[in-house]
Parts: sequence; structure tokens; C-alpha cells
Amino acid sequence: MRKLGLLLSRCAAAWKSVRMASSGMARRAPLTNKVALVTASTDGIGFAIARRLAQDGAHVVISSRKQQNVDRAVATLKGEGLSVTGTVCHVGKAEDRERLVATAVKLHGGIDILVSNAAVNPFFGSLMDVTEEVWDKVLNINVKATALMTTAVVPEMEKRGGGSVVIVASVAAFVPFPALGPYNVSKTALLGLTKNLAIELAPRNIRVNCLAPGLIKTNFSRVLWMDKEREESIKETIRIRRIGTPEDCAGIVSFMCSEDASYITGETVVVAGGIPSRL
Ligand SMILES: NC(=O)c1ccc[n+]([C@@H]2O[C@H](COP(=O)([O-])OP(=O)(O)OC[C@H]3O[C@@H](n4cnc5c(N)ncnc54)[C@H](OP(=O)(O)O)[C@@H]3O)[C@@H](O)[C@H]2O)c1
Repeated sequence: MRKLGLLLSRCAAAWKSVRMASSGMARRAPLTNKVALVTASTDGIGFAIARRLAQDGAHVVISSRKQQNVDRAVATLKGEGLSVTGTVCHVGKAEDRERLVATAVKLHGGIDILVSNAAVNPFFGSLMDVTEEVWDKVLNINVKATALMTTAVVPEMEKRGGGSVVIVASVAAFVPFPALGPYNVSKTALLGLTKNLAIELAPRNIRVNCLAPGLIKTNFSRVLWMDKEREESIKETIRIRRIGTPEDCAGIVSFMCSEDASYITGETVVVAGGIPSRL
């Protein structure tokens, strides 16, 4: 078992140095020694982002609501030789958000990157049937918690001289998915939150950008692709004729967090296989 762990960590190091070689010149991994928090990162898009940030040199703190999911994700990525730790964080709970920040500061001395990825979608149907309870839940988790998570990390980023926040929205922010009204509205609100935060935090050298995934094959979107026939008809509506993978979303987030993106803030990148989104 130990031998396997050693082998995997050597493979990860070798892979990292191959990625660092560009035109024959060795380059440092773009996020070397950065400290990154990724919410909802034990599965799906968040997990792929956490893995990629760690592969690119960051120390990553993984989190989600369930301890066993955190333990599993941390064990998997540690087994790949990556620098990851984890803690439970239900983004809707203030004490969990505080603990996530405190964990990063205690283990790594500060925070440079936040990827706010958590979202819920508890409702399917007409906007006319949405209850107050559903509105509260969707807006609390998808929008309010993202804003408050950002508020919680800003003082730590300032101590480091700056930082980078990436908010995960959806292509549904631009083109509403049928019957997902509250979710669509919450994702459009995240585009506004990105713009507002970017303006306010630029003087503190904190950049805020947004990722808008299209249809990505995860548990979250399962109903859309688990039936083969339905999957095939959905593919017909995507210019690049396939459903996206979590990994399709990961590299662009790493880029947005890196120095290569140091002049980019308040922007949204759509990763949706060419699904029409905006002009
Ligand atoms: N998949 C798509 O097609 C798609 C498209 C556009 C946008 N997105 C967006 O991408 C993000 C991630 O979606 P996904 O498809 O990767 O989902 P997923 O595969 O279902 O993963 C969900 C993750 O969120 C965690 N989680 C759920 N509720 C949480 C909460 N309240 N606090 C903290 N963690 C929580 C889960 O772990 P626990 O159960 O342990 O909490 C799990 O790690 C969401 O913002 C979603 O809106 C997805």
C-alpha cells in the first residue's frame, strides 16, 4: 500500500514537471504555494477544480456538508501526491464558513484563492408554484452564502496583499433552463454579484471572476443524461456534440486564479460546448 502511495506521488510529481515544461523551458507550477478554499468540492465540478488547483501547485482545503465525503475526497487526492486537507462546511451555516477559513489559516497561514461552487436546486416546475421556503433556500445557498463566504475570506486575502475569487454560476444565468426558475434566477444574480464584488475589491488587489458551466456530467445533472435516448437528443443541442466533464471546467478556473489572469476581473467564462449564451 505504501509502495503504491509512493508510486502515485512520484507519478504526480513527474506529471507536474511535464506540465511545467513549455518550449523546453522549465516553468514553475502557476499556483505554487497558494492556499485555495473550494466549497462543495468532494464531488463533481468542485472536486475536479480542487484536484486541478492542487496539481498546479496550490495547497487546497476541500469541503462539503458530509464528513465521509470530505474524508474520501481528501484520501483520493492525497493518494495522488497532492497537498490537500479538508473540513466539513455547509455553506449555509455561518459557523461552518468560519471554520473553513480558520482551518486554512491554521494549516497554511492564510488564504489566496476562494472558489465558491456550492448550489442547490430543490424545485422543478412553474415559477407560479414556488413557495417562499424554496425561494429562501435557493437564494440563501446559491447567492447569499457565496457573498458571505467572500466576506469571510477578504480580510485574510488582504493580509497576503491580494487574492482571487471564482464564483461558479451556470449558462442558465444567461438562457434559463425550462422549469428551473429559482435556480436560473439565482445564477443570474451571481453574475451581478461577480461584477459588484470585482468593482469593490479591485482596490484591495482581489480579483473576482465567474465560471458559467453548461451541461456537465455530474450527479447534479443526472436526470438529463441518465437516460441514453435523452442524452443523445440533448447532445444534438450542443455545438460540440458531447456533454461536458468536470475536468472541462477545472483548467479555466486555475487560469483565472493565476498570475496569467492578473488583468482580468469581473468577467464570466462560459464553458458550455458552444450552447448559445450571449452575443
Ligand atoms: N452539472 C452541471 O451540469 C452544472 C451546470 C452548470 C452549473 N453547475 C454548477 O456547478 C456547481 C457544482 O455542481 P456539480 O454538478 O459539480 O454538483 P455535484 O456533482 O452534485 O456535487 C455537489 C457537491 O456539493 C456538495 N454540497 C451540496 N450542498 C452543499 C452545501 N450546502 N454546502 C457545501 N457543499 C454542498 C456535495 O457534497 P455533500 O453532499 O457532502 O455536501 C458535493 O460535493 C453548482 O454550483 C452547480 O449549480 C453545474
